[in-house]
Amino acid sequence: MRLRLKERITATVLANVYNSYDIIGDIVIIKTPNGDIENAKKVATEILKLYPRMVKAVFMQSSAVQSDFRIRQLTFLAGENRTITVYKEYGYLFRVDVERCYISPRLLFEHKRISDLVTPDEVVVNMFSGVGCFSIFIAKSSGSKVYSIDVNPVACKFMQENVRLNRVFDRVVPLLGDSKEIIVSQLRGVADRVLMPLPELAFEYLPYALMALKSSGGWIHFFDFQYAANRQVAIKETCRKVAMHLDALDVDYNFSFSRVIRSVGPCRYQTVLDIYVSELSSKFL
Ligand SMILES: C[S@@+](CC[C@H](N)C(=O)[O-])C[C@H]1O[C@@H](n2cnc3c(N)ncnc32)[C@H](O)[C@@H]1O
Repeated sequence: MRLRLKERITATVLANVYNSYDIIGDIVIIKTPNGDIENAKKVATEILKLYPRMVKAVFMQSSAVQSDFRIRQLTFLAGENRTITVYKEYGYLFRVDVERCYISPRLLFEHKRISDLVTPDEVVVNMFSGVGCFSIFIAKSSGSKVYSIDVNPVACKFMQENVRLNRVFDRVVPLLGDSKEIIVSQLRGVADRVLMPLPELAFEYLPYALMALKSSGGWIHFFDFQYAANRQVAIKETCRKVAMHLDALDVDYNFSFSRVIRSVGPCRYQTVLDIYVSELSSKFL
């Protein structure tokens, strides 16, 4: 996109917009280093002209991703002033309000990677589901049952809609609330696999992920953020810290896979670690 924009607007205007942007459905979200709205509007207008069929609205991200709900403030720039759209991944549809729910196209590969690991007879608990991307992807591709939790009522409402939209009502169970409380009260010992796609709460909520697993054990997909000199060090640090926590809980485990999902700033990485936990002691049941 930037290359095509270069032909249409001056370098000075374009310098006010970062290279990275999100395309979610027919909405584009651009980022600026200084919040310069006038130049951002010029860029937005050109984006609409360049992609009139694909893009219907352009917004500027005007805050960092924040709060428990992991959402960001947006400023309207051009096109239709609406923040609801339908985002498509591998043919699955996700209706979402991009300002009131978390959504990131950067998790696309991870959605597919984890879905490919799930077998039809498994029960899955997704502790931080957003509008249901992992949960619906898993239920659609493997046919397994997914308990899909989120604390944001708006995200949960869209998740329910997406369950209908993708026809997985018999397999995905949307649950509104704090995953810690829901696991303690309703989901102890039910899961073969637990997803933890919220790095900010990952270490605190790890004991609850263990509690959700069946006594025979199972898989945990653990997401983390690490400051590190490079990708290898980031992965090593995630493994070291998770091992420390699991050792303290006296759990038998092994790490089967790890990777950096993306770089999220200078020397800061999002990592994911697949953990296999074997037979759990009665303290988790
Ligand atoms: C990073 S987003 C999840 C992304 C999502 N899995 C996806 O693939 O698009 C984290 C989500 O966790 C939710 N959340 C935050 N704290 C929570 C809690 N204590 N219990 C359940 N959900 C929580 C937020 O509302 C947010 O939707």
